[in-house]
Amino acid sequence: MKKDLVDRFGRKHDYLRVSVTDRCNLRCVYCMGPEGIQLIDHKDILRYEEIVKVINAAAELGIERIRLTGGEPLVRLGIEELVAKIAAIPGIKDVAMTTNGIFLADKAKVLKEAGLNRVNISMDSLKAEVYRGITRGGDLDKVWAGIKAALACGLSPVKINVVLMKNVNDNEIEDFLRLALEYPLHLRFIEYMPLDFHDEDWRGKYLPLEVVLEKAEALGLPLQPVEENDSSGPAEMYRLSGAPGMVGLIHPVSRHFCDKCKRLRLTADGFIKPCLYWQGEFSVLPFLHDNVELKCILQKALDYKKERHAMYTENQGRQENGIVRGMSKIGG
Ligand code: GTP
Ligand code: 5AD
Ligand code: SF4
Repeated sequence: MKKDLVDRFGRKHDYLRVSVTDRCNLRCVYCMGPEGIQLIDHKDILRYEEIVKVINAAAELGIERIRLTGGEPLVRLGIEELVAKIAAIPGIKDVAMTTNGIFLADKAKVLKEAGLNRVNISMDSLKAEVYRGITRGGDLDKVWAGIKAALACGLSPVKINVVLMKNVNDNEIEDFLRLALEYPLHLRFIEYMPLDFHDEDWRGKYLPLEVVLEKAEALGLPLQPVEENDSSGPAEMYRLSGAPGMVGLIHPVSRHFCDKCKRLRLTADGFIKPCLYWQGEFSVLPFLHDNVELKCILQKALDYKKERHAMYTENQGRQENGIVRGMSKIGG
């Protein structure tokens, strides 16, 4: 078997996003409908030791970076134990987490001590009421406390995710840019990606990220592209003159970045998804007892990976096997 995870288009994969739960303490409008989602049965969620087995096999095939996602990863009990186990796997160089930050103030230090390197935190508004509306009930003060705790305990970098939406938070671009002038944060604006449950909403709210560049220019805060970008991620990074922080643009809709994709995903119920936007997925469940078989299924999933996503076409989360996965069941 090949040592590295290389797909049919020559892309070497070294990054695995691991969704540890489909549960979430928020209900962001861009992620799910007001009724929430159909939850996976508890008994069908991978146990930590099972996740570790998959990551072990993946690391033997060249996966070096792990991102824990959800739902919300911090709602899963004892998540720091999983972080510690992953950090100890030979070959794993980076353990990161994407979180809504609500529980982070309490958890940041213990996560850092367990071996977490960095966090990405969703914060789509700086106004308490708007934030509450977007998240359907979230408390912005808690997120701020989480951000400060992350900075204080040396999780680095701390990235802030802002899904930009027309007439919702697009009047806050300046405030977010100014945050990068004040704090050593990576402020990342993200294009709103369509999901099948709210297509009409999406068309009304989607904004291409050109608007951020234009706004910055108009404010006299021009964004300078960072050449030595770590090309691993989807964010295009920019420097803001005199700022301790940075600004990132993630534009999967207007300009896809599939040609440099290096990512695989593991869902909370044990499926390998080669792409966020393709329906194909491969269960690891029959192979959990056998490291060689696990490596085979990882490679097989990759063999099915397409050249680019199919965001507007035949599937938006509708699965061949009848499962429908929205963002919270994939982890972004
Ligand atoms: P790092 O580069 O490791 O910091 O991670 P990231 O920025 O990719 O992770 P994060 O979970 O913060 O995701 C930020 C945004 O990028 C979310 O909206 C994700 O859904 C989106 N995203 C991440 N990876 C992909 C991808 O492979 N394809 C697409 N279309 N979107 C992605
Ligand atoms: N479009 C863009 N980003 C999204 N996220 C969740 N749903 C969407 C969407 N429809 C982002 C969240 C979180 C990350 C995991 O994915 O903001 O930061
Ligand atoms: Fe929860 Fe993240 Fe979805 Fe918001 S985007 S509802 S925080 S999983």
